[in-house]
Amino acid sequence: MVKQAIFIVMFFSPLVFSSGQQPTIIPQPVSMKTGEGSFIVDGNTQIRFDEEQADLKKAADFFSAALLNIAGIGLKYNSGKGKAIELEKVDIPAIGPEGYLLDVTQEKIFLRANTGKGIVYGMQSLLQLLPAVRTNAVPEIPVLSVTDYPRFKWRGMHLDVSRHFFGPEVIKEYIDLLASYKMNVFHWHLVDDQGWRIEIKKYPKLTEIGAWRVDHTGMAWGGRPQAKPGEKPAYGGYYTQDQIKEIVQYAADRNVTIVPEIEMPGHVASAIAAYPELSCNQKPQLPLTGGNYTNVSSNYCAGNDEVIHFLEDVLSEVFELFPSTYIHVGGDEVDKSAWKACELCRERMKNEKLNDENELQSWFMKRMERFIVSNGRKMIGWDEILEGGLAPEATVMSWRGEAGGIEAARMKHNVVMTPGTPCYFDHYQAGPAGEPLAIGGFNSLKMVYDYEPVPKELTSEDAAYVLGAQGNLWTEYISTVEHLEYMVLPRMVALAEVLWTPREDKDWNSFNERLQNQFRAYEQKGLHYCAGNNTVGIIPVSQNGKLAVELTTEILNGEVFYTLDGSEPTLQSNKYSGPVEITSDVLLKAVTVLKGQVKGGQAARQNFVIHMATGRAVNYANPVSVNYRADGSNSLTDGVRGTEAVGKYWHGIPGRDLVATIDMGENKTVSKIALGCLQKYRDWIFMPETVTFEVSMDGTIFETMKTVQNPIGREVPVMQHDFTAEFAAREVRYVRVTARNTLCPAGHPGAGKPAWIFADEIIVN
Ligand code: ACM
Ligand code: ZN
Repeated sequence: MVKQAIFIVMFFSPLVFSSGQQPTIIPQPVSMKTGEGSFIVDGNTQIRFDEEQADLKKAADFFSAALLNIAGIGLKYNSGKGKAIELEKVDIPAIGPEGYLLDVTQEKIFLRANTGKGIVYGMQSLLQLLPAVRTNAVPEIPVLSVTDYPRFKWRGMHLDVSRHFFGPEVIKEYIDLLASYKMNVFHWHLVDDQGWRIEIKKYPKLTEIGAWRVDHTGMAWGGRPQAKPGEKPAYGGYYTQDQIKEIVQYAADRNVTIVPEIEMPGHVASAIAAYPELSCNQKPQLPLTGGNYTNVSSNYCAGNDEVIHFLEDVLSEVFELFPSTYIHVGGDEVDKSAWKACELCRERMKNEKLNDENELQSWFMKRMERFIVSNGRKMIGWDEILEGGLAPEATVMSWRGEAGGIEAARMKHNVVMTPGTPCYFDHYQAGPAGEPLAIGGFNSLKMVYDYEPVPKELTSEDAAYVLGAQGNLWTEYISTVEHLEYMVLPRMVALAEVLWTPREDKDWNSFNERLQNQFRAYEQKGLHYCAGNNTVGIIPVSQNGKLAVELTTEILNGEVFYTLDGSEPTLQSNKYSGPVEITSDVLLKAVTVLKGQVKGGQAARQNFVIHMATGRAVNYANPVSVNYRADGSNSLTDGVRGTEAVGKYWHGIPGRDLVATIDMGENKTVSKIALGCLQKYRDWIFMPETVTFEVSMDGTIFETMKTVQNPIGREVPVMQHDFTAEFAAREVRYVRVTARNTLCPAGHPGAGKPAWIFADEIIVN
């Protein structure tokens, strides 16, 4: 404590450095005070530390190598001469195991931490203050004083190397990126239907067969076809155990723990292709090159003890390779239909007194957890492992929104938050016009920055079970390292600050400004990144029968110009200065303007309709999905028409009918009611079978005006359609609309399963 007190009284008046720049570090440190002048690194600069301490030696090597790279200067180790960078391990509980104290004066850099990890984090901060690449500039570090430590323990990034394979050099680059922003977990998704990527000595066919598939140009990832006659599955690859050991050490030197994911019991077509006897029907399956997960052959049999032994063997080799406490076992999206028809699975259910297939999966996960725990490790899985009963000590990764994380934390289980919005970095971050094809969704940089990992539903006691959060990068649509970089930069950087910096110190404008330095560094290093989401955010605010819109831009110092007559906005159009009231049907278009220039891409556009139910409360019989709430409970009367982007302005109802009742507050003369719907084949969203329109004066007795059949073919990929009832004008106070849900059609990956209904507006005239 004495050391800390001394540290705290050292402060400097804030001022501008000789370079004219305030130091910018991401994530923003807990506390940073700046001073005058800088520490100049030269050929005599030494690094001083106790060489008996191996972690300090490693840290010194790491920093020295980085400096040699960017400045061509080799630091002298404990030479006794020259200005010093001094490393010291201390005992200051307040900064925790990952924190550090950094004091830079013109004569000395003094870096202290409780652990070698903290020292390395201090070095990462120093590296952000130096040039990103080799230049002729004098390497100087501004005088400053930093106290720093992370908010969360789990600061993760995931990478799917199954859908597309990325070699060891790309993995190291990815780890470098994580480490430079003080992220500390790399969740390596090594197993999925499209490829088994980890060498397992006892089962060589996993990689001889399971690591390879055919790859036809222009083919969607999900439709892995059978090989054409004579065609060899030529796409793929895997990591040898030697490569993995090297990568694990590389990561550890940078404070990154690799959590391997050995997916089970679903998403394993690659393993079944290699060892068909592990599936329920135990027969070789076509395609031998892996299928998509709706193929019944893509699951292990949960009734076959050989499967358990196989997985124990696999995990035993995994334990040898990965020192991580956590072992990820997947558990998501298991298609249990093969289990229903399997004698061994039925026998297991009978013997273990399991009521359904969810409980069978739960039994399977608990069985694996027992093995993992008996080997001194902990099991983590996707939130489906809650279904049918959570294994006793399991940690839950909440990806289908936050509900799984909330449930698990309330059960006093650790959780890692990775909700699709905003933690899936395979979603669009801008556009989508002009952006590389993405799987869907929309998670812009600001959405990531605004993310709060602790759900507000949790008590402060349960909140302690939230270890942190993670960004996920699934690679169905990502096949090159350039594209990979583009999807994580800069969203990973925003998440890093969310997970490190105290919540009250987060500041979007400051982050956006500090990010500009990182952009320059990416350009110098040749890294690909998304420079920003130019698309103006159009945020409707409807209440009490009135509709207004707010317009926002994520671009630093950007302005917004807009039109309401459908014309393209220019610098001569309306300049946005506050909420715009909408009083008639309009098409609003808006653009971001920076330094007098309209930023590229399409103008953001939004149709608004004003009608008799605008701003009125909507009562649902079946709940709207928490993931598709649009702009709130009254989205169907907010006057906002949806677009083909499913993430915005649509209320989504999974697997059930939409039954919506509106009280217009007073009697109105009505002659026409419409319901706007979306079909999006790829996303399991289909037009309802029928839509029935009813009216009432008292909210109890309803009279049917019309039932409209769906006129749109199930095969149509994307379409918006208004179901409409017209009738003789009459006095009405209540309107009820019932849209009947349908099943996904034959030939669709979800054939026979319930579809989604997506609706944007009930228009009453
Ligand atoms: C997942 O995205 N299936 C975990
Ligand atoms: Zn079975």
